[in-house]
Amino acid sequence: MDPYEEYGVSGPWLRVGMVASLDGSVTDEERWSDRLGGRADQRVFRTLRALADGIMVGAGTVRTGRLGPVRLPAELAARRGRPPAPLIVVSRSLDLDFSAPLFTEGRPILVTSDDARPPAHVRVVSAGEGDVDLPLALHRLQGEHGFQHLLCEGGPALATSLLADGLVDELCVNIAPTLIGTRHHTRMVGDLARRDLALDAVYADEDVLFLRYLTGRPRP
Ligand SMILES: NC(=O)c1ccc[n+]([C@@H]2O[C@H](COP(=O)([O-])OP(=O)(O)OC[C@H]3O[C@@H](n4cnc5c(N)ncnc54)[C@H](OP(=O)(O)O)[C@@H]3O)[C@@H](O)[C@H]2O)c1
Repeated sequence: MDPYEEYGVSGPWLRVGMVASLDGSVTDEERWSDRLGGRADQRVFRTLRALADGIMVGAGTVRTGRLGPVRLPAELAARRGRPPAPLIVVSRSLDLDFSAPLFTEGRPILVTSDDARPPAHVRVVSAGEGDVDLPLALHRLQGEHGFQHLLCEGGPALATSLLADGLVDELCVNIAPTLIGTRHHTRMVGDLARRDLALDAVYADEDVLFLRYLTGRPRP
């Protein structure tokens, strides 16, 4: 059993979970992240998915074309005891391929602004005029739709927005034993005022370092 299954969360909670190279890049040489952390990272990645009520991702990550419908290994699915959490895709532009399996098979939820016009087959939670009001979107997702425990898998732009809005409770960073160098380097967060976090748990598995930080944000 993965230690993350023992770190309890209570009430509305937003966990950001990402993998990074030792030199701080969240992308590998393919501009994706699968080749960073290996099996140990993938295990934690799936565990975090199994624990969540909803899995948020930014539209930029969806546009890589690498994300499919959420599927859990049998053992995790059995421990979860309910269907996998839906993906929750955040986009203001709606520049997305709504005919891709992610949308036709996976039935994700789209978080967008009130004036956006997504296709009728997509489940939508809208918040904000012209732009997505993330605090309101979270309030709706967690309060009205029951997705209390949210996991945000990135990417950096969405994670930065959520951190800037003070919405993140927990940051889980899996540090891969890899140096990526500057050619393929993507920072985990963009422009953000300084934050000091509290280290809550740390462990290592297969050379990957797992760090769990709490932001200590005031709870609503
Ligand atoms: N290492 C990891 O754990 C990890 C995890 C995920 C992704 N990645 C990598 O990260 C890269 C993608 O990251 P990214 O930063 O370019 O994109 P991203 O964060 O996945 O998505 C950015 C998009 O999300 C929407 N968005 C973000 N903040 C918003 C806000 N406040 N209001 C409304 N919409 C908002 C916008 O969509 P629209 O443009 O549609 O309006 C924005 O362009 C990929 O290379 C991927 O491989 C790494």
